[in-house]
Amino acid sequence: MDATEAILSRRSIRKYDKEPVSDGDVEALLNAAMHAPSAVNERPWHFVVIKDRKTLEAISQISPTAPMVKYAPIAIVVCADTTLEKFPGLWPLDCAAATENILLAATARRLGAVWTAVYPFDERVEGVQKLLGLPAHIVPLCVVPVGHPAETPAPVDRFDRACIHQEAW
Ligand SMILES: Cc1cc2nc3c(=O)[nH]c(=O)nc-3n(C[C@H](O)[C@H](O)[C@H](O)COP(=O)(O)O)c2cc1C
Repeated sequence: MDATEAILSRRSIRKYDKEPVSDGDVEALLNAAMHAPSAVNERPWHFVVIKDRKTLEAISQISPTAPMVKYAPIAIVVCADTTLEKFPGLWPLDCAAATENILLAATARRLGAVWTAVYPFDERVEGVQKLLGLPAHIVPLCVVPVGHPAETPAPVDRFDRACIHQEAW
C-alpha cells in the first residue's frame, strides 16, 4: 500500500479480533512515529506500550471515550517529555504528528487503530500519569489501541472544495 492509499483509506477502528499484534508490528508503528516531523527537531515523544489487560481496562475507566481500549490486544500511550519543548505549545503538535504516523503505519500493515484523547482533559492526563507512574513532566497526549480489525468501515471521500482558498480568504 502506498502512502496516499494509506492516507485515503485510514479509518478509526474500534473493534479488534483476538489475534495478537506482533512485537515486529509494534516496533514498525513506533519507528513510523519517531520519523514524524518535529518543531525545531525537538522530538519530545515517548511511548508506553501496554499489553497488560488490567492496565488496558483501567485506561478505559479513566477515559470515557476509550471503551475499546479494554478489548484491544495492545495500546500505545503517546507521551511528551515537556522539558524538551523549545517553545510553549509545540509538544502536542509534535506528538500529534507522531500519532498520525502510527495510524497510517497501522493502516498500511492492515492493522486497526484509533486515536483516543487524553490531553487536554486534566482528569484523563492525571489519571493516566498516575496509572502508568509517569513523572509530572511526562504528559500523555493520547492512547492508541491497536489490533487486527474486526470491522472494516469504508473509506470516505472528504475532499471539500469549500475549504480551499486561492491566494487569500
Ligand atoms: C485529537 C483527536 C481525538 C480523538 N479522540 C477520540 C476518542 O477519544 N475516542 C474515539 O473513539 N475517537 C477519537 N478520535 C477519532 C475521531 O473520532 C475520528 O478520527 C473521526 O470521527 C473521523 O473518523 P475516521 O478516523 O474514521 O476517519 C479522535 C481523533 C482525534 C484527531
